[in-house]
Amino acid sequence: MVSADRTPPARSSGERRGRLAVLVSGNGSNLQSIIDACRSGGLQAEIAVVVSNNPEAYALIRATEAGIPTMVSAPGPEPRRRYDAELAYEVATVGVDLVVLAGWDRLLSEEFVGRHIVINLHPAKPGAFPGLHAIERAYRAWQDGAITSGGVMVHYVPDEGVDDGPTIVWEEIEFRHGESLDAYETRVHEVEHRLIVKAIATVLEQQRLDPRIVT
Ligand code: GRF
Repeated sequence: MVSADRTPPARSSGERRGRLAVLVSGNGSNLQSIIDACRSGGLQAEIAVVVSNNPEAYALIRATEAGIPTMVSAPGPEPRRRYDAELAYEVATVGVDLVVLAGWDRLLSEEFVGRHIVINLHPAKPGAFPGLHAIERAYRAWQDGAITSGGVMVHYVPDEGVDDGPTIVWEEIEFRHGESLDAYETRVHEVEHRLIVKAIATVLEQQRLDPRIVT
């Protein structure tokens, strides 16, 4: 199921950096934001591995160009829970402090989330539009007059809930009169790129202050 390129990343000296596994499925613009923040020193973390369930994901190219080990874990005919258990094991062998779902499009069962500390990026406010196509659904709801703002959240994934779990950071985004879906989506991504880094920093700092924290 899993193929991996485990070339180890260069390590810098100094304070221990939090080790991340970043799980992706597509473009990886949020991954890029994390890579850039790690590089600039704005985020005291290193990406130990990038995992994609999609062999064609552009995020894999971003990771490779940044010299980060990658793992492709394309789902096969195996039951979901077995896939998740194997993935949890593979990620555990790398040794990470935190798993970041950054555009990962597959639900993870207890077999995975029970084994790792997991956070997820969701392009809507807490409790709003769980599931796929949240940006588009929020935009349509605004057009229908049902809402006046959307948002972005990053939350813990303590169980099998969909885009649901204790909020780490979130930000409201007011819709602008007459804006297109594309324009709104661009603004959502800009907020995401900032918030995902802020959320990782928040969680790693909490772990540093109290290593017993698990959610
Ligand atoms: C983001 O909007 C994320 O919130 C959603 O999928 C998108 C992934 O974008 N779940 P990218 O792959 O990070 O560019």
